Amino acid sequence: MKVAIIGTGYVGLVSATCFAELGVDVTCVDTDAQQINRLVYGSIPIYEPGLEAMVTRNVNDKRLRFDNDLMAGFRGQDYVFCALDSKLDSDGATDIHPVEDLARMFGECIDSYAVFVIKSTVPVGTAHRAHDIIAATLAARGVDIDFDIASNPDFLTEGNAIKDFMKPDRIVLGVESKRGREAMHKLYRTILLHSNRQIITTDTRTAEMIKYAATSMLATRVSFMNEIANLCERVGADANVVRHGVGTDSRIGPKYIFPGCGYGGTLFPQDIKDLIKIAGDNDFDMEVLRAVDSVNTRQKRILFEKLVRHYGDDLKGKTVAVWGLSFKPETDDMSASPAIDTLELLTGAGCDIRVYDPVAMNTAKRQWNKIVCAGSIYDAVEGADAVLLVTEWRQFYLPDWKRIHSLMRTPVVIDGRNIYDRAEVESEGFTYYCIGR
Ligand SMILES: NC(=O)c1ccc[n+]([C@@H]2O[C@H](COP(=O)([O-])OP(=O)(O)OC[C@H]3O[C@@H](n4cnc5c(N)ncnc54)[C@H](O)[C@@H]3O)[C@@H](O)[C@H]2O)c1
Repeated sequence: MKVAIIGTGYVGLVSATCFAELGVDVTCVDTDAQQINRLVYGSIPIYEPGLEAMVTRNVNDKRLRFDNDLMAGFRGQDYVFCALDSKLDSDGATDIHPVEDLARMFGECIDSYAVFVIKSTVPVGTAHRAHDIIAATLAARGVDIDFDIASNPDFLTEGNAIKDFMKPDRIVLGVESKRGREAMHKLYRTILLHSNRQIITTDTRTAEMIKYAATSMLATRVSFMNEIANLCERVGADANVVRHGVGTDSRIGPKYIFPGCGYGGTLFPQDIKDLIKIAGDNDFDMEVLRAVDSVNTRQKRILFEKLVRHYGDDLKGKTVAVWGLSFKPETDDMSASPAIDTLELLTGAGCDIRVYDPVAMNTAKRQWNKIVCAGSIYDAVEGADAVLLVTEWRQFYLPDWKRIHSLMRTPVVIDGRNIYDRAEVESEGFTYYCIGR
C-alpha cells in the first residue's frame, strides 16, 4: 500500500508517521524545502511527544521518506493525502485554491486508480470541486483512469496527536463510490480493529460539515463556560465547582468546560471564521458562533484587565512575569494564543516583561525583541510585580511558592487556568486572582 502525504506540518507529519508505523509505504512531500531538509536529517519541526522516535524508527526501516518534489508525491501512489494548512483569502476565510492546484496535479500525474484524500479542513463543497477538477484534467489528457475523492477530516489535538491518530474516537470518511469506500476502509480498518470505535462513512459535504460542527461545538463550550465564570465572579459563585457540577451531568460531560483566559491555536478561531463565512455565503447567520468568537476575543484580555484592576491604569515600569506562551500545554504552537494578546497589552502599557515557556520561547523571541526570555519560572519572577499564568504546563502545577515570594517585588498571582488553590497561595502571602472564583 503506497501513500503520499502532501503537506508535512502537524497533521501531515503525524498521519504519515502513524501510517508508516502501521506498515504502509509513505512519502511525505512539502514545498518548504528547508522543512524537508530538516526532516531528512532527523530534525522534527514540531514538538509532539513521542513523534521524533517514531519518525526515526520508520525512516530507518525505510517505510517513511521525505521529498520536496511534488511529482514524487503523485506518481505510483494508491492514496494521495492533502494535508496543507488552510491558507486565508482576502476575506480571512479558507482559500481553496491550493487544494484545487493539488487536485489538478493529481489529475495530471496519476496513471492508475488512486484516491485523492482531503485531510485539511476545507469549506463544504471543496471535495466536489476537486472531483470536477480531476475529472476535467484527466479528460484533457485524453485518458480514462478511475479515481476517487475522499473527505477525511482530522480531529487530532496537538500534544496528543499520536494517540488521537492511533486510537481515534471515530474516523469520518466522506466518499461517494463503492470502490472509494472500500479503498478507504482498507486503509483505516486496522486502526479500529481492537476498539469499539467506528468509521462514519457519509457523503463528502457531510464529512466536511462534521469537522466544522465538531470544532465549533468545542469552542462554544469553552466560551459559554467562560461567560458563566465571569458571571460567577460577579455573583460570588465558584466557577470551578459550577464546572464540576455541570460536567458530572452525563448529558454534558467534563471536557472543554474549564474556565480560563480564552482559546487559541489555528483550529478553533479559523474554523469558526470559516463556518460563519460559509453560512453567510448561504444567506444564513450563525448568531451563536459570532458570539462565541467575540466572547473569546474579550476573554483573552482578562489577565491584563485583572492586573489593571489590581494596580490601576498606570502600569508603566511594572515588571510582569508571564508563565506559558503556547496556546495550550505540550505544544510549541503560539498561534492565536491568549499569551499574544496579553504580551501586546502589557507592552502597550509600558510594562517590563519576563516570560518562560518550556518549548515556545523561540517563537516569542522572534516576535517580541524587548521581552526577557527567562530560563525557568523562578528566573521569570525575579523582581516582578505580578505573575500571569497563561498556559497550564504540568511543570507549573506545584511551584515553590516560598522561593517565588522571595524573588518577586510584589507577590501577585493571576492564574489564567485556575490551577492553583486559593487558600494555599494566599497562605504563602500572595494576592491571588483567578477566573470565576
Ligand atoms: N494542527 C491541528 O491541530 C489540526 C487538527 C485538525 C485539523 N487540522 C487541519 O489540518 C490542516 C493542516 O494543518 P497543520 O496544522 O498540519 O498545518 P501546518 O501549517 O502545520 O502544515 C502545513 C504544511 O503544508 C505545507 N504546504 C503548504 N502548501 C503546500 C503545497 N502547495 N504543497 C506542499 N506542501 C504545502 C506547508 O509548508 C506546511 O509544512 C489544516 O487544514 C488544519 O486546519 C489541523
